[in-house]
Amino acid sequence: MLQKPRGTRDFLPDEMERRRLIEQRMREATRKWGYREVCTPDFEHLELFTMKSGEGIIQEMYVFEDKGGRQMTLRPEVTAAVLRMYVNEGKVLPKPIRWCYFADCFRYERPQKGRYRQFWQFGVELIGADTASADAEVIMLADETLRSSGVTFDLHVGHLAPMKHLLADLAPGDQRAIMACLDKHDQEGLKAALVGRGLTRLTEPLAALSECRTIPEIFEIVGDVPERARVEETFALLDSQNINYQPDFGIARGLDYYTGMVFEAFARNLGAENQILGGGTYRLAHLFGGDDVASSGFAIGFDRVMVSVGDFALESRPVVGVVCMPEARARALEVARAFRDAGIRAEADLMQRGMGAQVSHAARTADFAVVLGKREVEAGTVTLRDLHSGEQQERSLEDAIAEVARYGAC
Ligand code: HAM
Repeated sequence: MLQKPRGTRDFLPDEMERRRLIEQRMREATRKWGYREVCTPDFEHLELFTMKSGEGIIQEMYVFEDKGGRQMTLRPEVTAAVLRMYVNEGKVLPKPIRWCYFADCFRYERPQKGRYRQFWQFGVELIGADTASADAEVIMLADETLRSSGVTFDLHVGHLAPMKHLLADLAPGDQRAIMACLDKHDQEGLKAALVGRGLTRLTEPLAALSECRTIPEIFEIVGDVPERARVEETFALLDSQNINYQPDFGIARGLDYYTGMVFEAFARNLGAENQILGGGTYRLAHLFGGDDVASSGFAIGFDRVMVSVGDFALESRPVVGVVCMPEARARALEVARAFRDAGIRAEADLMQRGMGAQVSHAARTADFAVVLGKREVEAGTVTLRDLHSGEQQERSLEDAIAEVARYGAC
């Protein structure tokens, strides 16, 4: 038996309904803030991501050569693609540009619960606003979008300036290696990286940075950095709106393009793979031939949100199975259509089973059977059987539709 590729999943109808429902809630949340949906290709030129996304992600990419000899990759994330699209198509649009997306991404990672090779991100990008209000907007929107899904989470908000300030004298490669350990909360790796580079003097301030939970304290550790006013203004705006977050200056983010404010959210009921959102401010457009525009955004790990919310009950809507004798097939199609026109799901027999077998099938797949025997066909009526109670009654088609509609439409 052939199996699906490692790290991918199949979704059965119940699961897909749950996914669509949560996706819909996220869409509604972002639409209210003015974010409009965009779509970019599933694959891009490799260099789009090698330019700035960071070592980690590059090693994890699905890279291939196309028939024209071009180096391509399945997208590991959407931000770089959206900024490429902005440079190609959106430069003339009035700023700020508010875009959102729901897209599958591909990373060649070691699969485990909550970590897949194909996964979906729901994200936003805010392009062209370089203010504390813009920083606060994306954080507030992240909070609202996550809350719309019903997940319970902790939101951590930080800024890269204090960490970059501590690491300012280091070569870019060393900075990146240390930030990668901080991002992964890899204490052993961090220790080795600091010892190996003769940088043990940074052990204490980096630990203090990660543990610090107040704004004044952070500037006591790193001194007065130029970004201080912006950081304070952003946090003050969040406080003014009673956003429930925790300052966290240990956030390093795995992608290399971030420039300032950074934030992450963690689902309370998940284990190792509990990060359900990541985002921050960044600059990318200038690398792709555009202006050096300030941007910010976030992406929600949609699959992790689904693991976190679990298998909630779906609203049940009535299903009608149309049961008919062989001569009444045309009438059955007419009846099924009338139910559908009223917004009710109706399924006709396609197997040419006998009427008894049709009713048994309907009892397993539907809530009502609409029976079209000889008498009903002659009288122009239908017999409506409630498959849960077993009660049945011959009625006009209109009455039968009205009765089923009392239980809701699809
Ligand atoms: P990221 O943190 O790499 O950021 O990914 C965002 C979210 O995608 C993660 O927090 C996680 O929930 C989910 N995720 C990542 N890898 C996997 C995986 N293998 N399986 C399941 N879920 C996964 C970005 O991608 C940035 N583009 C976010 C952003 C948008 N920054 C600014 N704008």
